[in-house]
Amino acid sequence: MSSDSTIKKCIFPAAGYGTRFLPATKAMPKEMLPVVDKPLIQYGVEEAVAAGMTDIGIITGRGKRSVEDHFDISYELEHQISGTKKEEQLSDIRRLIEECTFSYTRQIEMLGLGHAILTAETLVGNAPFGVILADDLCINAQRNVMQQLVDVYAKYRCSVVAIEEVDAEEVDKYGVIDGQEIEDGVFKVNGMVEKPDKDKAPSTLAIIGRYVLTPEIFGIIRATPPGKNGELQITDALRTQAERNMVLACRFDGRRFDCGSVHGFVEATNYFYQIYRSRKDA
Ligand code: UTP
Repeated sequence: MSSDSTIKKCIFPAAGYGTRFLPATKAMPKEMLPVVDKPLIQYGVEEAVAAGMTDIGIITGRGKRSVEDHFDISYELEHQISGTKKEEQLSDIRRLIEECTFSYTRQIEMLGLGHAILTAETLVGNAPFGVILADDLCINAQRNVMQQLVDVYAKYRCSVVAIEEVDAEEVDKYGVIDGQEIEDGVFKVNGMVEKPDKDKAPSTLAIIGRYVLTPEIFGIIRATPPGKNGELQITDALRTQAERNMVLACRFDGRRFDCGSVHGFVEATNYFYQIYRSRKDA
């Protein structure tokens, strides 16, 4: 691996069915649900870009075309509003389109997050890369969550996952780590388990939707059998990587909204609406 710690690639697994948000996600991708006036995936891409990643790879599936259209020029619309005040509303997305390259690959069968990440191997190649699950919407005023993971990667050069302390009642919704804190907020992973029963969870430190992965993960995923719910779990592959090599977990500064659930989505909407209001009132 090169001595350069810059990470340029970030992938967005976005092929899931979003069943927790039905019927809204019946014909519309979960990643396109808007929090106030911006779809979830745009928040995610903005976070990646702020962390220095401009090579964006999106893993899509059937019915996800609107994601591709969002990161493209819309000639008719843009011509229509050209010269009006409304043009300003497209300035952020235009900047992303100019700064980034977007590549797409399709996951033919939804066999789990590990499988979705493996599908992106051809987009990623042999370099470390970021992974953002756009339905986990993260905020932080100074260094965003992906930037925090990149900083840990730059120091230790191994895969890094973002974790947060969750309620003991909630552990069965997450991958949960068994770790040892080696510096403030950074844990060496000794084990991890996907969606454990409450009484079997090794801790209450849950993995959320931000990762920096080294490319050796692809070979490990390929050799990993299906796990919980018959899906190819990234948690299982990372556990193997932790045993062979080293995996770190970073308890990030900031706040996360689980926008894959109605509750988290409404909380995020309220939060971002306050910001939207104060901008409009200013
Ligand atoms: P989720 O566990 O949130 O699954 O996946 P989901 O299908 O999107 O949503 P629910 O639980 O049915 O409501 C976590 C992330 O992994 C992606 C999803 O798109 C989401 O971003 N994913 C999951 C894939 O890309 N492919 C898969 O096979 C599974």
